[in-house]
Amino acid sequence: MHKNKDGIYIYNEDAYLGIKKACEIASKTLDMIGQFIEPGVTTEQLDKTCHDFILAHNSVPATLGYRGYPKSCCISLNHVVCHGIPSKKKLKNGDILNIDVTCILDGWYGDTSRMFTVGDIGLKSKRLIEITHNALILAIKNVAPGKTFGDLGAEIQEYVEGNKMSVVRDFCGHGIGSEFHQAPNVLHYGAYHSGPKLESGMCFTIEPMVNTGRPETKILNDNWTAVTRDKSLSAQFEHTVFVKKEGCEVLTRSHNNTFFPEGAKLRRDSV
Ligand code: MF3
Ligand code: CO
Ligand code: CO
Repeated sequence: MHKNKDGIYIYNEDAYLGIKKACEIASKTLDMIGQFIEPGVTTEQLDKTCHDFILAHNSVPATLGYRGYPKSCCISLNHVVCHGIPSKKKLKNGDILNIDVTCILDGWYGDTSRMFTVGDIGLKSKRLIEITHNALILAIKNVAPGKTFGDLGAEIQEYVEGNKMSVVRDFCGHGIGSEFHQAPNVLHYGAYHSGPKLESGMCFTIEPMVNTGRPETKILNDNWTAVTRDKSLSAQFEHTVFVKKEGCEVLTRSHNNTFFPEGAKLRRDSV
């Protein structure tokens, strides 16, 4: 593997296979956790279940101890945008939550997150989750050599704002592979034709955070939890993608399609 002129890693076949395996454990963790989501369960219990599953697959949760982060996944409820710390808080009917898992296997990293729902959620929550997932899929469909990172951000922003919701600016996707966070910053907003060009062999995450209200966030006193300033609802989906000669491969696909919110109008996509 080597870095291109923009400082972005171009991975070889061996690296691709390593990253793919790490990604598979991460997506299988999310496939597995769905069945445990119900009113009364604490986010700490969900974290423990994810932690044990990751270890049982000879993998290590990348977030545990990362810059002092104390848990094996991030669980972000309702108006929490990202980096929610699993706690004694109990899930209740109507909650929406994102679970974000990053696995390390043989030194390779895989990163993915999905939304989950508790009991009956409101129409607004359902729409938010649909729009956020669509935005990610739209961006993924644009991943191919010759496109720019700006193209991806612009697609997401145009679609989300066209649906009267907002894109969070304070957090972004990232290169990934031999480390957790690498160049480039993958922005979920921006201008077409701007930013570095995509090349075959690149690996990065796309992880748009979408709010029903304004895009601004603030960090709580725990120095991690990011929430919407206006307390509006927030949703996020994240995939790790690998750029191929034509298009890309989504390395963090669901293996059982359990993630899409029940009753959502859109078809259950295979990614
Ligand atoms: N998994 C997150 C991402 O998508 C990063 C979490 S870092 C943590 O990049 F320290 F908050 F866990
Ligand atoms: Co990420
Ligand atoms: Co993540």
